[in-house]
Amino acid sequence: MSEQRFHHIGMFDSGIGGLTVMQQVMHVLPYESIIYFGDTARLPYGNKSQETVERYSIENTIFLLEKRIKLLVVACNTASAYAIDKLRHTFNIPIIDVIKPGAEKAVQMTRSGCIAVLGTKGTIQSKAYQTSITRLLPEAEIFPIACPLFVPLVEEYLIDHPAARLIVKDYLTPLKTTKVDTVILGCTHYPFLKNLIQEELQSDICFVDPAATCAEQVATTLKQHHLHTSQTKPNYSYYVSDDPDKFTEIAAKLFQQRIDCSKID
Ligand code: DGL
Repeated sequence: MSEQRFHHIGMFDSGIGGLTVMQQVMHVLPYESIIYFGDTARLPYGNKSQETVERYSIENTIFLLEKRIKLLVVACNTASAYAIDKLRHTFNIPIIDVIKPGAEKAVQMTRSGCIAVLGTKGTIQSKAYQTSITRLLPEAEIFPIACPLFVPLVEEYLIDHPAARLIVKDYLTPLKTTKVDTVILGCTHYPFLKNLIQEELQSDICFVDPAATCAEQVATTLKQHHLHTSQTKPNYSYYVSDDPDKFTEIAAKLFQQRIDCSKID
């Protein structure tokens, strides 16, 4: 058996939302095995300091490296925004984030040059999306909005609840008087609220879920480093830092899929 057969893609998020990224990677790279870690004991990351998110991200990466991963996907926008430089300086494997792919896609899609970024407090405060977009499109007009209550709505599976509608309306009101034509769903949980967000905005708004572009970058990077796998049956493992039963229950509701996960010590 070649050594490469032991090598997986590693991926972490603060919780369940990163499974949206994992699904895209599974779709684009159907032969790759993936180890997913959801740091459910320490969720949410979105309102923590940069120092704390960096520390969590380093610990998560060490856990995944012990499982012999060949490439890391930082599926969490907040961790990508706050910790990507630290991770790349600390670890010697290819590391893919979700911010740069999301910014690239938004710049490709926008016609008006007005782009809204929805994210956690940390992601918005870091200005990571704003910096990446401006680098590609200096004249872009960017409307960053922190939406801290979106994550608990998804984690509690309240995605159709009247409270969710009210919160979405409240957060998005400032966008109604703008020329925004592209909205980045800059948090792994937000794709589950896309329908409600769409109802609040004009019908021709273009939504960017960074997960799809991120998956393409994973494919390109694996090829560049000659790390890709083909024609093997993939293996998917899931780990959480707290309450695997809740993770399994919410995953079943959000993804209509049974996920068996293990709690790490
Ligand atoms: N998964 C995180 C992100 O994409 C959001 C959830 C959290 O606040 O932990 O930013």
